[in-house]
Amino acid sequence: MAYANSLATTYNDKVVRQFAIMTVVWGVVGMLVGVFIAAQLAWPELNFGIEYLSFGRLRPLHTNAVIFAFGGCGLIGTSFYVVQRTCQVRLFGDKLAAFVFWGWQIVIVGAAISLPLGFTQSKEYAELEWPIDLLITAVWVAYAVVFFGTIGTRKVKHIYVANWFYGSFVLAIALLHIFNNLSIPVGMMKSYSAYAGVQDAMVQWWYGHNAVGFFLTAGFLGMMYYFIPKQAQRPVYSYRLSIVHFWALIFTYMWAGPHHLHYTALPDWTQSVGMVFSLILLAPSWGGMINGIMTLSGAWHKLRDDPILRFLIVSLSFYGMSTFEGPMMAIKTVNALSHYTDWTIGHVHSGALGWVGMVTIGSMYYLIPKLFGQKQMHSVKAIEVHFYIATIGIVLYIAALWIAGVMQGLMWRSINADGTLTYTFVESVKASFPFYVLRLLGGSMYLTGMIIMLWNTYKTATSGRSVTVPIPAALAHA
Ligand code: HEM
Ligand code: HEM
Repeated sequence: MAYANSLATTYNDKVVRQFAIMTVVWGVVGMLVGVFIAAQLAWPELNFGIEYLSFGRLRPLHTNAVIFAFGGCGLIGTSFYVVQRTCQVRLFGDKLAAFVFWGWQIVIVGAAISLPLGFTQSKEYAELEWPIDLLITAVWVAYAVVFFGTIGTRKVKHIYVANWFYGSFVLAIALLHIFNNLSIPVGMMKSYSAYAGVQDAMVQWWYGHNAVGFFLTAGFLGMMYYFIPKQAQRPVYSYRLSIVHFWALIFTYMWAGPHHLHYTALPDWTQSVGMVFSLILLAPSWGGMINGIMTLSGAWHKLRDDPILRFLIVSLSFYGMSTFEGPMMAIKTVNALSHYTDWTIGHVHSGALGWVGMVTIGSMYYLIPKLFGQKQMHSVKAIEVHFYIATIGIVLYIAALWIAGVMQGLMWRSINADGTLTYTFVESVKASFPFYVLRLLGGSMYLTGMIIMLWNTYKTATSGRSVTVPIPAALAHA
C-alpha cells in the first residue's frame, strides 16, 4: 500500500532514463553507419565484396537507425518526461510504458538484423517487413495509451502546447504507418504492397513526407516548446502563435507529399497541389522557428556561456534554413535541377543534423543530469567542444553537397550546340569525388561530437544515481 502510494506521488523517470541513454547510444551507432556509407560513396571498394556491407543494405540501416532509433528514443523519452511534468501526474501504466521501451528496442534490433540480410519492402523509411511492422503497431498503440492516458488523468486543467505537438506526432504516425504498410504477406519475411503502380508511389510519399512532417518535425517541436523555455528560463514568446502555427502546420503537411514525385506518372495537377502546399508550409514552419528563437528575448546574453542553449537555438536556425530550402526545392522548375542530385541529401542533413540532431542533443544535455540527480553534465567543457565540432561538421557536410548537387544538375542538363550531351554521367560522378570526401570529413566530425557525448553521459550516469522525483504536492492534489 505504502509502495502504491509512493508510486502515485512520484514521477516514472525510469523509462525516461532508459530512453535517454539509448538515444545517445543509437545516435552513435546510426551515425557510425552514416560515416561508413559516406566513405563507401567516395571509395566503393569499402564494401569489401561482402553483401551484408553493401551500400544498398547499409543505407536503410543508417536511415532507420538515425530516424527511428536515435530520433524515436529521443522523442518517446522526452514526451514521457514532458507529459508527466506538464500534467503533474505519474505516467499512465508503468508496465505498458516498460513494454513501449523494450518493444521499441526489439524493433530496432529487428531492423539491424533484417536490413543487412536484405529483407525489405523497398519503401523508403518503411523498409521493414510485415512481422516487424506488426510489432511497431503494437508498441505504438501502447505508446498512445500511455501518452494520452497521462493527459486524461492530468491534474492541471490546461494542456501545455508541447503535448499538442507530441500528441499530433503519435496520432499521425499511427495513421501513416498503418496505411502505408498495408500489404499481402507471401512468406515470413516477404510481402507485396496492397497498392499498385502510381497509387503505391503516391501513398508512399504521402507517408514519406509526413514522416518528415510528424516524425522529424512535429515531435521535435514538442521538444523545443518544453526544453527551450526551461533552459532559457523564459516563458514561450507567444502562446497564440504556437496554437496558430500548430494547426496550420498539421493541416498543410498532409498535402505536400507529391513534391517527391514531380515529373513522374503522378497526375500533373496532384504535383501542382503538392508544390503549392509546400510553398504555404514555409509560413507555419517559420512561425515555430520565430516563436522558439524569440523565447530568448531578454535572455540573449545567456547564449554567451550556455552551450546547451546554443545547441537548442542553433537547431532552430537550421530548422528555419531547411524549411526555406524545402519549399524552394518543391517548385517544379527548381526540382528539375535538384531532384536525383546530392542537393537533396544536403537538404535532408541540414534538417537532420542541424535541426533534429541539435535539438535532441540540447534537450538530452538538459535532461540527463536531472535524471541522475546531478546539477549538470560531468563536463560542461565537453558540451562546448561538442557544440563547435558538430556545427563545423554540419556546415562542411551541407556546403559540400550543395556544391556537388548543383554541379551534378548542371552537368546533366548541359548540351552542346548540336544537341548532344556535354558530359557523360561518369564524368559527373568523378567530379563529385572531392565533395564526397569533404562530406565524409563533416560527418566524421559530427560523429566525434556524439562519441564525446556518449562519454559525458556515461560519466554523468555513473557518478550520479537514479533519482525518484516527487510530484509537487500542492499541484498533485489540486
Ligand atoms: C554522422 C552523421 C551522418 C552521416 C555521415 C550521414 C551520411 C549519410 C549518407 C552517406 C547517406 C546516403 C546518401 C546517398 O544515398 O547519396 C545518408 C542518407 C540519409 N541520412 Fe544520413 N548521415 C548522418 C546523420 C544523419 C542523421 C542524424 C539523420 C536523421 C536524423 C540522417 C538521415 C538521413 C536520411 C533521411 C537519409 C536518406 C536521404 C534521402 O533518401 O534523400 N542522417 N546519410
Ligand atoms: C517546409 C518544409 C519542407 C519542405 C516543403 C520540404 C520539401 C522537400 C523537397 C521538395 C524535397 C525533394 C524531393 C525530391 O526531389 O525528391 C525534400 C526532400 C527531403 N526532405 Fe524536405 N522539406 C521541408 C523540410 C524538411 C525538414 C525540416 C526535414 C528534416 C528534418 C526534411 C527532410 C527531407 C528528407 C528526408 C527528404 C528526402 C526524401 C527522399 O527522397 O528520401 N525536409 N524536401
